[in-house]
Amino acid sequence: MIKVAILGYGTVGSGVFQIIKENNDIVNKKSGEEIDIKYVLDLREFPGDPCEDVLVHDYDVILNDPEVEVVIEVMGGLHPAYEFVKSALEAGKSVATSNKELVAKYGAELIDIAISHNRNFLFEAAVGGGIPIIRPINMHITADRIQEIAGIMNGTTNYILTKMEKEGADFDSTLKQAQDLGYAERNPEADIEGFDAVRKIAILTSLATEKTVNFEEIYTEGISEITSDDFKYAKAMDMTIKLIACSKMDGKRVTAFVAPMLLKEGHPLYPIQGVTNGILVRGNMVGDIAFIGSGAGKLPTASAVVSDVVDCVRHLNTSTTIQWSADKQELEDFSFSKKKFFVRTTASKDKVRDVFKDVDFVDGGVDGEIGFVTSVMSENDFKAKAGTLGIVSRIRLDD
Ligand code: HSE
Repeated sequence: MIKVAILGYGTVGSGVFQIIKENNDIVNKKSGEEIDIKYVLDLREFPGDPCEDVLVHDYDVILNDPEVEVVIEVMGGLHPAYEFVKSALEAGKSVATSNKELVAKYGAELIDIAISHNRNFLFEAAVGGGIPIIRPINMHITADRIQEIAGIMNGTTNYILTKMEKEGADFDSTLKQAQDLGYAERNPEADIEGFDAVRKIAILTSLATEKTVNFEEIYTEGISEITSDDFKYAKAMDMTIKLIACSKMDGKRVTAFVAPMLLKEGHPLYPIQGVTNGILVRGNMVGDIAFIGSGAGKLPTASAVVSDVVDCVRHLNTSTTIQWSADKQELEDFSFSKKKFFVRTTASKDKVRDVFKDVDFVDGGVDGEIGFVTSVMSENDFKAKAGTLGIVSRIRLDD
């Protein structure tokens, strides 16, 4: 029998508890051992809840119990999650976590500690919720150079953008609706400004490059400036707007960004609706692989966490392969990155042609302005030209 402890009895923690109890036959069979939840750690009381019998409020009880072999960290936030996870690994316990903040900031260090103790630090749920993406990159796409990772990695923003597109609604009222329905946090900044997605692409890119990508160095733009008029133009172009997290690996040159993008109908991420996530990985041999599913939510996220617990139990005294060193992965300067841009302006067509030369005009039916798509140009070049013209807004194209 393997004893485990769950740190945090919130949405994901209670989901982990439920899956280990409800699916115990399959989880035990896959692990090759009986998994027993010895402790649940939380500051709160849960009278009448099934966790009541194993609830503790002091982390040291878990840390100092040699019977606990796997710690499940689902508290979120950096502190004290970092201190708890680090001390658990140093005490010879394996750790499974869903905490992307923790993994994005301390991934290399915690993997290193785990390996030096022949233990595991696993984080399948940190990116894409219930979608298997960490294990495929680490364990399955191992014959390829990964050339590109691109995806919709935030369910909240995809829910908002989908609603705006379908209902013609504006950003603020859609966000409010999403908050009322519990799809968006009361403080939605991390989701809508791209701070959640940027940590996820930093984690995936670190795994692809086997070095540490600093998420703070990745160009990040959220969706709060997207309007219902942008969707009118998108529709006129047979396109949609998605928040895309992307990295491209071209030998040693690595580019990464998070930004709203216009995608053509037919693009593999075009049909991804609502809270669903979709992640594309391009290998130089295998080509494109798509991973699609529930990127958030209690049971999908908990399912990924429990799959890591199973992996930890299968590899109790040996580290599974995760190559992610503390060496810094340099990123290319985003200002040199090249794309087409969709632009809205109140300037005349002649002025647009004067400044941008070769463009395709788009009639979005919006009064008092015109829309156009530029040729491929660098961020720097675009900025200089847009400054001369004067623009209402711009969105990059992925076509
Ligand atoms: N807030 C995140 C999302 C949860 O909306 O995708 C999963 O990381």
